[in-house]
Amino acid sequence: MSERTRLTTVEDVHENDSWLFTVRDEYGERDEAILLPCEDGVEAWINRCMHQPQRLDRGFGAAVRDGEVVCPRHGSGFDTCSGYCDNGEAEGTTLVDVEVAVEDGAVYLDDRSYTFDHEGGIDDEDGDGDDGPSSSSHISF
Ligand code: FES
Repeated sequence: MSERTRLTTVEDVHENDSWLFTVRDEYGERDEAILLPCEDGVEAWINRCMHQPQRLDRGFGAAVRDGEVVCPRHGSGFDTCSGYCDNGEAEGTTLVDVEVAVEDGAVYLDDRSYTFDHEGGIDDEDGDGDDGPSSSSHISF
């Protein structure tokens, strides 16, 4: 089954520098992935530095500078197009690739190894917040 899931638009990724989402791998395990701007299009990578298991986007957007996504822990920069890192602690490594396709400005997850779970990080699933049932307000005079 390789049904494509529409994620967002290229424009949105370019405006916000990154777009975080959660996928499930072939074993049903959840992982985070990020869309990053690359020239006119986008690329997607697993949201994890290759030096240590550090999230590149910690839930409030990744730092993208001069075509590189910068690891928040030790500052290695990975090329947003190739995923390759040529500097710092993660030098010589490449981010784990997630296949996406672009059609009419929309971005689709197009990877046999992953299925879309939800937008945002693993912990961002709905129902995770503290907003329990709001106490019904009894207005009495
Ligand atoms: S954890 Fe990313 S550079 Fe060290």
